[in-house]
This record gives sequence, structure tokens and C-alpha cells, in this order.
Amino acid sequence: MDISNQTRITVLCLAMLLVCGLALTALAQGSQSSQKIKILIVYHSRGGHTAEMAKAVAEGARKNPQAEISVKPVAEVKCAELLATDALVVGSPVYWSNMAGEVKTFFDRFSTECGVLPPTFQMRDKIGAAFVTGGETSSGKEIALMTIVAAMLGNRMIVISEGQALGAAATTGEGKAPVTEKELDEARRLGERVAQITATLKRGKKN
Ligand SMILES: Cc1cc2nc3c(=O)[nH]c(=O)nc-3n(C[C@H](O)[C@H](O)[C@H](O)COP(=O)(O)O)c2cc1C
Repeated sequence: MDISNQTRITVLCLAMLLVCGLALTALAQGSQSSQKIKILIVYHSRGGHTAEMAKAVAEGARKNPQAEISVKPVAEVKCAELLATDALVVGSPVYWSNMAGEVKTFFDRFSTECGVLPPTFQMRDKIGAAFVTGGETSSGKEIALMTIVAAMLGNRMIVISEGQALGAAATTGEGKAPVTEKELDEARRLGERVAQITATLKRGKKN
């Protein structure tokens, strides 16, 4: 074989290696960016305000094409979906400066029924976030947010916020004032951030 043929074959081999390398990188990047993330948004709502905020959180999360979103009242959540989710967002009306009893019952129920108690901590490292609605400007919204977040931290979840400092919040007057566009937008931003951080964390876990 003369020198020019050898050179041609070497160049061809190198080109094939380069193409294979590029294809593998593209494949790896593609499978990472198309990896689905599950986001479970749960709430209690009698008058519809907290449910409306839940929908806005879902709208924000839906901006992320990787997100598979489920929105439902706390009473309807099953252990299987709770344990399968990558992120849990919990919404409550403020009742007596705290989360509603229904939401507390949800946390208590999943602790016992779903076997997430120590030492297993099956909710560990899932993303958690909270939102609330309250009648008054300053009658317990932050306490309600903190009690939700505290329950998540007890479960060893990774808590994040957006909207306001501790999560998204709306003031509903005596339960009759509509949730404002600004408050809904804050809820959307919470959902968007939950999706973004959840996707980043899941990608990191794969590597
Ligand atoms: C039993 C009860 C207790 C409440 N306690 C408070 C309170 O302590 N602070 C507050 O800001 N709003 C309080 N509210 C008002 C609700 O938090 C508010 O109307 C909320 O937006 C209702 O949400 P929903 O429309 O999703 O049911 C209370 C309402 C009820 C029914």
C-alpha cells in the first residue's frame, strides 16, 4: 500500500471516530434533556382560591417540556404517586394562622400509610415547595408556609421557594376577593422554578 492510500485510510478512520463521538454525545445530551420529571401539586380548598393558585403553579411548571404534572386535592393523593413523584408542591388556605387541618392530615396520613417514616425517609431528596391563601394580609400566611415547609424538611425533602420569600401567597379578603394576576404570576413562577430545579437535580443524580 502506498503512502497516499495509508493517509487516506487514516483520515477516513479518524473522521469515522469523530462522527461516532459526536453522535454519542448528541444521544447522551438528548436523553438527558428529554428525561421526564414528575411534579405533584396538591391542595385543600373550600372556596376555590387555593385551587386557583394550584392551577397557576401547574401552568408555570408546564413551561418545562420535561414536566409531567398532576394537580389534585390532598384527600385524593395515593401513596404510589407520592412515592413516584420527583417534586411535591403543597397548597393550603390559612386556618387559624396555620395550614388547614386537611393538609396536616395529608402529611400525617402519608407518614403512616406510605411508610415514609425513619429510617427509610422515602421522600428524601424530593423537591418540596409551598403556597397559601389567607383572608388577611398578615394573619398567619408565613406561619402556614413555614409549617408546610417544616413537614417537608422533616421528611428530608429539599425545600425551595419562589413568588414570595417562603413560597407563593395570595390575600383573599373574606374569601370573596379574587386572586390577583400578580399573585397568580408568583404562583406560576414557583411552578416554573420547581420544574427547573427538579430537572437539574434529576440530571445530576444520573451522572
Ligand atoms: C376556619 C377558617 C379559619 C381561617 N383562619 C384564617 C386566618 O387565621 N388567617 C387568615 O388570613 N385567613 C383565615 N381564613 C380565611 C381563609 O384562609 C381564606 O379565605 C382562604 O383564601 C380560603 O381559601 P379557599 O378559597 O381555597 O378555601 C380562615 C378561614 C376559615 C374557614
